[in-house]
Amino acid sequence: MSQIRLMRPYIGFDEVEAEFREVFDSGIFTRGQHVDAFRSELAAYTGAKHAFLTTSATTSLWVCLKLLGIGPGDEVIVSDFSFPASANVIEDVGARPVFADVCPETFNMRPEVLEALIGPRTKAVMFVDALGNPTGITEIKRICSAKRIPLIEDAACAIGSSEKGARCGAIADLTCFSFHPRKLISTGEGGAITTNSDEWADWLTVKLAHGANGMKGVALDFVDYGYNFRLSELQAVMGRKQLAKIDSIVRERNEIRERYMEQLGELGFVAQKSGSDVVYNVQSMVFRVPEGCDRDRLIADLRGTVETTIGTYALSSGSYFLSKYRDVQPTAAQLEATTITFPCFTGLDVGAVAAAVRAVLR
Ligand SMILES: Cc1ncc(COP(=O)(O)O)c(C=O)c1O
Repeated sequence: MSQIRLMRPYIGFDEVEAEFREVFDSGIFTRGQHVDAFRSELAAYTGAKHAFLTTSATTSLWVCLKLLGIGPGDEVIVSDFSFPASANVIEDVGARPVFADVCPETFNMRPEVLEALIGPRTKAVMFVDALGNPTGITEIKRICSAKRIPLIEDAACAIGSSEKGARCGAIADLTCFSFHPRKLISTGEGGAITTNSDEWADWLTVKLAHGANGMKGVALDFVDYGYNFRLSELQAVMGRKQLAKIDSIVRERNEIRERYMEQLGELGFVAQKSGSDVVYNVQSMVFRVPEGCDRDRLIADLRGTVETTIGTYALSSGSYFLSKYRDVQPTAAQLEATTITFPCFTGLDVGAVAAAVRAVLR
């Protein structure tokens, strides 16, 4: 029997073939109708006023820090349980990442921890939807608004998620998405930024177009210096196809989650929790392993039968940040050591996964 893989893409070549042919026939590979349409559709879906496409969530987060003018001497408070990109971009602009420990159940930033960390150097807060789970973002936004601190949402994993009826993309001041193959929408590599701010949208429009704004005679007028982090037309076609079915993808993944919770719950695995007013897109099916179970051994023992991986990382415990800041966050560190991600895709035989787990735990 072949190994059950972690994830399968939600897009097939037959879905994009016709549009790909049109793109090739037209010769318009960039800045065409599909990029424009994907931007509008992302804004409409999330409820954000503006959407910009980029090459990745990492690029998006970095651009947001540049937009806010964050640099040396500044601090950005960041959820500690995330992929290292969240803190890497803060470090890269010369600011200090201040690691916020997370809730052991939702894996997300805790309001009381955030409030204790806010200080005179805090220039932004970066909330991470851990594995796509937005639980608690609304309360974090309330705190940030009261203190007039911009909130960046690292929603790399969270397309399709929402809290209290508001979708990720329309809650924080700036939201960053990823379209990497581990995400629910994949364009190979890719990302997006959404915002409701017209002023920031103007900045992004110019900066993401090499600094050009309008024409000077017959040539572009470069009013600022800028960047090129564009997504191509072919990628935009892929993104549009998946965005059109995102709600059904989320529904199907939640059905799989229910089955997992039943079957692995019996074995003592504890699923990541989401709030009752949350739609969780289940980007990753993550559990804490049962008491006394060696997570690394379990991953190794399942290899060849079921592909699994760790939940995600405690940023403050990574070798680089640990040696520089010595600021370990205990809950995130514990979650890094005890969480496991199981396969999740439509059509998955959850019973077969549970049987494989039962066999190795025996
Ligand atoms: C929370 C989080 N932030 C950022 C990233 C980086 O995303 P990208 O690969 O699109 O740069 C990831 C990738 O897994 C992630 O999970």
